[in-house]
Amino acid sequence: MKINQLIANNINHLDTVLPTDKSLGIAGLSGSGKTTFCQTIGEESKKRLVSLLPKAEYQYLFPEIMDTNFSAIKMEEMPLVLFLGKSSISSNPRSTIGTHTGVFKEIRVTMAEKFDLSPELFSFNNVLGWCTGCKGRGSNSNVTCKKCDGKRFNPEVETYKINLLGKEHSISEVNNLSMETLLSLKDELNLSEGKQHILQNIINMNIGYLTLNRIMGTLSGGELTRLYLAEFMATSENTVIIIDEISVGLDHQTLLKILEQIKQLGYKNQIWLIDHSDTVLDATDEQLFFGPGSGKYGGKIVEESPRPAPVLVETNHDKPTEYYQFKDLHCRNIQMAEIQIPKNRLVTFTGESGCGKSTLVNECIAKDFLKRYPKDKLVMVGQNRNQSITSRSTVATFLDIKEKTDKV
Ligand SMILES: Nc1ncnc2c1ncn2[C@@H]1O[C@H](COP(=O)(O)OP(=O)(O)OP(=O)(O)O)[C@@H](O)[C@H]1O
Ligand SMILES: [Mg+2]
Ligand SMILES: [Zn+2]
Repeated sequence: MKINQLIANNINHLDTVLPTDKSLGIAGLSGSGKTTFCQTIGEESKKRLVSLLPKAEYQYLFPEIMDTNFSAIKMEEMPLVLFLGKSSISSNPRSTIGTHTGVFKEIRVTMAEKFDLSPELFSFNNVLGWCTGCKGRGSNSNVTCKKCDGKRFNPEVETYKINLLGKEHSISEVNNLSMETLLSLKDELNLSEGKQHILQNIINMNIGYLTLNRIMGTLSGGELTRLYLAEFMATSENTVIIIDEISVGLDHQTLLKILEQIKQLGYKNQIWLIDHSDTVLDATDEQLFFGPGSGKYGGKIVEESPRPAPVLVETNHDKPTEYYQFKDLHCRNIQMAEIQIPKNRLVTFTGESGCGKSTLVNECIAKDFLKRYPKDKLVMVGQNRNQSITSRSTVATFLDIKEKTDKV
């Protein structure tokens, strides 16, 4: 693949030729330009794809894409490129795993056939099926709709039930089933081979616990990337698939399993993996390094970037004397009577992906902390900052800006 004159963020007129028959690992310091480089190529491909549509259609479907004629990159020929990164998250509350994968549509058809009705009746995105209180969104301004209790459907539709696993299920209850359960009910729900394949891939990606009604925009970055991968595995060919930081938030065992899946995807497609993890980089045929520094000191392709040496910190062997005590922690999959956390210590929470570390810390403990230790400060730093964090822990407080402005 020949790339000419790529210009974006800290990358200035970059020329390069990349192999098309090998998987590529893309490495380099944080801020060196890895994401910028790949995202720009992905955008260009999307632009070219969209421009093949009739003008009236692309203007309606992708108004922002064709805003400018400016192309950040000059390339004569380019394959189809799909970029999977943090920016790929959609914010449409009507888009759920069920609607996105098309699995829910097949379930609606099955339900409709059973009762000799129209499939639209079982759609929360249709006036025939939706709850009139929230028009099928399940919530209004982030507050659960009282009329349907977040179920999205109107009460008439909810009266139609099918027997699954020895229990009567309404459409919203089917919509609340996990991918694992749905695959085990493939015959009862009359799911096509194609959808069974996607469900199996989702399970292989270790996200089989997700439910059909999950809103796409509420998935974590890692969950979203793995969901897309599961779909690509069932459908894509001859495509360059770029995955930005697949290792983030995954335990080693899960990462190895996902890399195995990605290898399978690589038989029919070309894979580029942007990552800081040696495990990921070592799984690729060839590596491309960005650098030499970050920001304006980066933006170039370099021979090799130094892999950082592990940080060695001396361990404090003194037994902690003071503890924070938290009680009655109940959120989602966390059910804990109490937990003690030593004060003045560096504490790590670890465990398998999806086991509940973030929920425990960001939601349960954060909430209880504010209640029990109102005089202490809690500062959250991370990628998925939660809304439960109060103004006490905003950046302003963190930097003592609030205190200063309060005095003024
Ligand atoms: N939308 C933007 N507007 C202006 N500058 C940006 C934008 N996005 C990124 N940058 C800057 O471009 C440079 C390269 O950023 P980029 O995100 O490509 O780095 P990266 O190599 O992917 O880093 P990381 O490993 O942290 O993901 C950085 O200096 C960054 O601050
Ligand atoms: Mg990046
Ligand atoms: Zn409602």
